[in-house]
This record gives sequence, structure tokens and C-alpha cells, in this order.
Amino acid sequence: MITRLSVNINKIATLRNARGGNNPDLLQVAQDCEEFGAQGITVHPRPDGRHIRYDDVRALKPLVTTEFNIEGYPDQSFLDLVMEVCPHQMTLVPDAPDAITSNAGWDTVTHFNFLKEVVDLAHSKGIRVSVFIEPDKTKIRKAAELGADRIELYTEPYAAHYAKNPQLAVRPFVEGAVWAHDAHLGVNAGHDLSLENLAWFAQHVPHLQEVSIGHALVCDALYYGLENTIQMYRRQLGGG
Ligand code: PXP
Repeated sequence: MITRLSVNINKIATLRNARGGNNPDLLQVAQDCEEFGAQGITVHPRPDGRHIRYDDVRALKPLVTTEFNIEGYPDQSFLDLVMEVCPHQMTLVPDAPDAITSNAGWDTVTHFNFLKEVVDLAHSKGIRVSVFIEPDKTKIRKAAELGADRIELYTEPYAAHYAKNPQLAVRPFVEGAVWAHDAHLGVNAGHDLSLENLAWFAQHVPHLQEVSIGHALVCDALYYGLENTIQMYRRQLGGG
């Protein structure tokens, strides 16, 4: 299976917002990412608009020709936006509004009823739902019970342990992907994936449909350029 690369463009918005103008032009960058080989565009709007703003999401919708993935904590304003924009995929993330970045997956047992309502709402509009989650058997099975379509494995612990012991680092994620597949869930992954650790992950984790990558990819683009960088990431995934 070739894993698809969704480029998270939050950092482009962060750079733009630093000066208050429209440089870099987020919409142009999104279109260029697709032209350079991205197979999806991911955004993570937060209520304070410190990177992607709600209006960016609305403007991106008609421009994105690949897969549009909106991730975030499903408070009312986020859900209103997602229901209005109708992306291909909504990824549910449990982070607090002021979190610097996502730092945990959902406890799908504790938050089952809340998440079930959100999943049902998204399905009423035909939006695929992915649940950001740790590779924990009980939580993954509960995600399936929710009626979610996919999980997104939270890969920060993999990235943190990769350099020391790649075999050990990837093992829980291999298991998590198998549990998900057995429960008829699709498998995405993301967080701290990079040119250093991506190929190993993609070669070992079965059923991996999509990775969403932002921070490392944008950092690499400073050195290699955006087009080269996207192609390099695609090659780590066995494509490109
Ligand atoms: N997946 C989720 C749910 C995220 O919140 C983020 C960060 O916004 C990513 C993937 C991408 O992580 P990174 O920027 O480290 O590639």
C-alpha cells in the first residue's frame, strides 16, 4: 500500500501572521503543495487564530483539489466551521485551545458519548471522521464502536524513541494499526514525523493510508525548497 502524504500548512500561516500581511500567500502555497505532489492539505484552526484562521479554511475549500483534512478540538465553533465547509475528512484532536501543539490522543472510553455525537453529526454531512489516538487496544476498539472511519496514530512517542531504538519505537504502532484494521478502521498517522524517521515507520506499520506532516516538512523546505521536500517525503513513503 502506498501511503498518502497530507501536508499540514499551519506553519505557513504562522509565518504569514508574523508580519500581518499576506506573505507567504497561504492559498498559493496550498495549491503549490498539491502541484509539487502533496496528496492532501491539512489545517488545524484554533479559536485564537494564531495560525490558520477560520476564513483561511473557507477560502481553501474550493481551491484544494486533493483531500482536505480539517483537524481540531470539536468545540461548537469548530464544528460549525467544519459543517459549513464540508471537508473530505475531519480529524478530532483533544487538545486544549491554548496547547502549543497536540500532545495526546483521545480517551475514547471516557469521552465516548461526546465523540459519538460529533461522529454522527459529521456523518450526516458525509464527512469522514478520523480520531487522533494512542496505540491502545481498548481505545482503538472504542473508536470503532463510535462509528469513526479512521484513527490517526499519535506518533510523537515514536519520533522521540526512534533514534535510540527504531524496532522498539515502532512496535506499538504496528500493533495499533493491526488492531485498527481488525476493527475495520482506516489508519492515518501524524506528529513529529520527519525525513529521518518516516521511511522506517511507513515500511513497518501496515495498513497506513495517510500521514499528515507539517513542522519538519516546512523546516526542511527552508533548505531543500518546497517542491524537492515534498518529493523527498513522497519517496520515504514509497511513492513520488
Ligand atoms: N496530526 C495532528 C492531529 C496534529 O495536531 C499535528 C500538528 O498540528 C500533526 C498531525 C502534524 O504534526 P507535525 O507538525 O509535527 O508534523
